[in-house]
Amino acid sequence: MNTQIIFYSMYGHVYRMAEAVAAGAREISGNKVELFQVAELVPDAALEKSGAKAARKAFAHVPVANVETLAAADALIFGTPTRYGMMCAQMRNFLDQTGALWMAGKLVGKVASVFASTATQHGGQETTITSFYPTLLHLGMVIVGVPYSEARLLEMKEITGGTPYGATTLANLDGSRLPSENELAVARFQGRHVAEIAKALAAGRKG
Ligand SMILES: Cc1cc2nc3c(=O)[nH]c(=O)nc-3n(C[C@H](O)[C@H](O)[C@H](O)COP(=O)(O)O)c2cc1C
Repeated sequence: MNTQIIFYSMYGHVYRMAEAVAAGAREISGNKVELFQVAELVPDAALEKSGAKAARKAFAHVPVANVETLAAADALIFGTPTRYGMMCAQMRNFLDQTGALWMAGKLVGKVASVFASTATQHGGQETTITSFYPTLLHLGMVIVGVPYSEARLLEMKEITGGTPYGATTLANLDGSRLPSENELAVARFQGRHVAEIAKALAAGRKG
């Protein structure tokens, strides 16, 4: 089986979460896990000015996602930073290239899940993930979140991301806060949980 983690990250927070999701997904035997980043849309000069160009070197090795490869996946897990409470334009642009897959029903029945990053605690963690869902449902995908059997969602002793809709992190306004252990653990849980469900569905189809 194949799990693809498709993300966009400007400063590396979503990338760190993507690595944790991948680590969780790899815990499921027989699961080939692949990481892809969606294409950049921001001009080079703007990336340079904001410091993103330097930050992006940390994940420059991750191949650029191509919609053609999506149909090979059993599970697709999408990671996006919040832009005004919703997914980033780079991710939207990628999804807007799935028209032919939609027409042919190529993603119908595949498992989908979403994780996210915001700068602030109430800056749109849940809305970024849940506003992603209509696209996934139009494509016919089966949405999986993070159930409360992951007890780290209940953490109250520290500021933390982590929602029943998907793993999240808080980057702070200047990007200085990196994903915490709690947030990374929820991300690992999400990767494992999604892959487990995708594996069971794939086995059911064969059986
Ligand atoms: C145009 C723009 C809009 C943003 N909108 C929000 C927002 O609505 N809420 C929020 O908390 N953070 C917002 N942010 C901050 C990003 O979500 C933050 O930089 C990101 O989560 C960091 O992840 P990354 O390092 O993977 O890019 C915004 C950033 C930009 C550039």
